[in-house]
Order: sequence, then structure tokens, then C-alpha cells
Amino acid sequence: MTTDQKKQELDKIADEIRNFKDLDIAKNATHAVPGEGNPDAQIMFIGEAPGQVEDSTGRPFVGQSGQLMRKTLFETTGIKPEEVFITNIVKFRPPDNRDPVDNEITACADWLDRQIKIISPKIIVTLGRFSMAKFIPGVTISQIHGISRYYQLSTMNYQLIIFPMYHPAAALRGTTMMNAFKEDFIKLKNLLAPQVKIEDNASNHDQLGLF
Ligand code: URA
Repeated sequence: MTTDQKKQELDKIADEIRNFKDLDIAKNATHAVPGEGNPDAQIMFIGEAPGQVEDSTGRPFVGQSGQLMRKTLFETTGIKPEEVFITNIVKFRPPDNRDPVDNEITACADWLDRQIKIISPKIIVTLGRFSMAKFIPGVTISQIHGISRYYQLSTMNYQLIIFPMYHPAAALRGTTMMNAFKEDFIKLKNLLAPQVKIEDNASNHDQLGLF
């Protein structure tokens, strides 16, 4: 797909989300929050659900925790937020920022799967336990944050990398979590570095005249 075709398909999904009224959280939303960013993004960030500022603007991760995420991304990796694609598991704000419930996650799942397929990122960064659980169920985030793993989606013909991170709202709760959040961004940067291939066997060493 060309970038324009990807953009058109993503806009179509965004329209579907904005016109959807089959959940209470959709009926009560000021704005749906489909997601935004580069249709050719190599990295997709997937959070939980919009908060108050996202609901009032229709944009993902623009409140306090979103600003932390966007700023840390740029300061650590040099990647601008508009170069990635940012979205959520659930596209409408749950009241009082409660956790999303199963039927809300299920109702929004097809949109997210289609967004992933269109963008075809190399890396999906999950922010918080709800988006982690979509790809890696039955684990706790404290055990596996900052550890990348390959993942095969049934709809894709290649393995992408899942990189679980703490949610930025957790990082705002204290220094320990903030440090862990920032350290994971450094690991993400290292994951993006071109791999240096080391041929570690004796015959190569001989050929290269290292000994
Ligand atoms: N928290 C999320 O998980 N997503 C947002 O878009 C904002 C805050």
C-alpha cells in the first residue's frame, strides 16, 4: 500500500470509530479518539483508553501522561511523536478514568487490529497492562517491561516486535517508576540501533588476520 492508501484506510477507520454509538462510553464521549500519526510508522504506541484531555480534544496521549511519553520519546531516541503512530486499546473515555472492561476492549479490537495491519510497524510499544495483555496475557508488567519479544499476528506475514513499557501515568506516581520508564526508552533506542553482525568463529578471525 502507498502512504496515501494507508492514510485513506486509516481515515476510514477513524470515521467508523467516530460514528460508532453501540457502547455507553461511545455515546457519552465528547470526542472519540481513534489515534494519530505516521501511516508508515516503524513504531506504534498502544495505550489503554483516552483520559479527560484526550476526550476533549479527540487526540491520544495529549494530557499530562501523554506529554511525558511524547517528551521522553523525543529526548531519549530523537524520534518526534508525529513520526510514530499513537493509539489506544479502547477508543472512548471510560467515565472517571476507570479501567476499560472486557466488552469495551472487544468492541474496539477490530479497529486496532486493522490499524496495526495497515501501518505494519516493526515495533509495537505497549503502554500499561491492558495493551500488554492483548499480546502477552498472563504476565505482570513488573516482570516483563523493557524486554522485547517477537510476535506473530495471524493477519500479518512477518513477526513484529512487542516492547512492553509501564504506562506514563504510573511513571508520574514516583521516582522509581519514572526511572524505570525512562530506562525502558533507552532500551527502545538500543533496539532501534542497526545491528552489528559479529561473525564469531576462528576461520573468520584467521581470514581477517586478527590473530
Ligand atoms: N492514557 C492512555 O492510555 N491513553 C491516552 O490516550 C491518554 C492517557
